[in-house]
Amino acid sequence: MRRLFPSNPPGPSGPSVPSSTAAAPAPAPEWSVEEIAEEYAYPPVGEGADEAAWWLRGNMVASLDGAIHHGGRSQPLSSKADMWIFGVLRALADVVVVGAQTVRQEGYRPAKRRRGFADRRAALGQAPVPAIAVVSAGLELDFSLPLFTEPVVPTLLLTGRGAPAERVARAREAGVEVVFAGEGAGVDPARVPGVLAGRGLRRQLTEGGPTLLGEFADAGVLDELCLSIAPRIVAGSAPRIMNGPVLPDPDEYTLEGVLEEDGFLFTRYRRSRTVAE
Ligand SMILES: NC(=O)c1ccc[n+]([C@@H]2O[C@H](COP(=O)([O-])OP(=O)(O)OC[C@H]3O[C@@H](n4cnc5c(N)ncnc54)[C@H](OP(=O)(O)O)[C@@H]3O)[C@@H](O)[C@H]2O)c1
Repeated sequence: MRRLFPSNPPGPSGPSVPSSTAAAPAPAPEWSVEEIAEEYAYPPVGEGADEAAWWLRGNMVASLDGAIHHGGRSQPLSSKADMWIFGVLRALADVVVVGAQTVRQEGYRPAKRRRGFADRRAALGQAPVPAIAVVSAGLELDFSLPLFTEPVVPTLLLTGRGAPAERVARAREAGVEVVFAGEGAGVDPARVPGVLAGRGLRRQLTEGGPTLLGEFADAGVLDELCLSIAPRIVAGSAPRIMNGPVLPDPDEYTLEGVLEEDGFLFTRYRRSRTVAE
């Protein structure tokens, strides 16, 4: 893994590239778990004066031509390094927020304990793994799946107060914790981060999909976007990483970092402002 940007980062930097006098490029250095965790560390969150109440980060992978799946799955666009960063981002989060369609299509399973993160999580007062929070209005989910029956930390179901009562009851009977974040059938995306933060889940990661991510962007609550760009082209009509309402004005994001491995670019952008502001 190579860091492409910033080239001279302040503070803790990634592994130093071995110097080479030969014409051949130096080999890409290996990153330790600590270094990559430092690279992607959340800003301070909490109730302190200098702290944000929460931080919502998105993580998505897209092909060179902007597709977010091939054959309905994101796996064909991913790589070993992409999956590693995916795992690290989970290991840093308090909660992973995901749309129900991604859960159904990708066969979501409970978050796993990641080697090397136990002490770091304990020191920050985090549970051993992030909770998965599934966002759904229809609640057409199979509550007998391991995601709901075998998680290390109970899986949450985020929905609206107008969701079908019998399905809310079915979820609860299956032991799933139902959390309301909206007065209609679905959640109000603007309320989701605050509702989760109210439960102590402040370091938030959303893995999409594009419908949910677009709603978070539209609601103005997406603080950061980690976008992996895969050196692959799939053509076709797969959606982009956000699929939904058009923002009244473009939102501007500032580049915070770019890593590279095997032609994949691992970019990280922080929301700065609306261009019209
Ligand atoms: N490349 C990547 O990084 C990546 C990441 C994630 C997903 N994907 C791909 O994205 C595709 C799925 O995309 P998608 O846009 O259909 O999925 P999605 O955003 O994961 O899920 C949409 C579903 O989420 C629920 N939902 C969204 N907004 C809601 C709200 N405000 N209130 C309540 N429920 C809400 C609804 O579930 P109900 O229908 O249950 O009401 C809705 O049908 C899959 O092919 C997957 O592989 C790719």
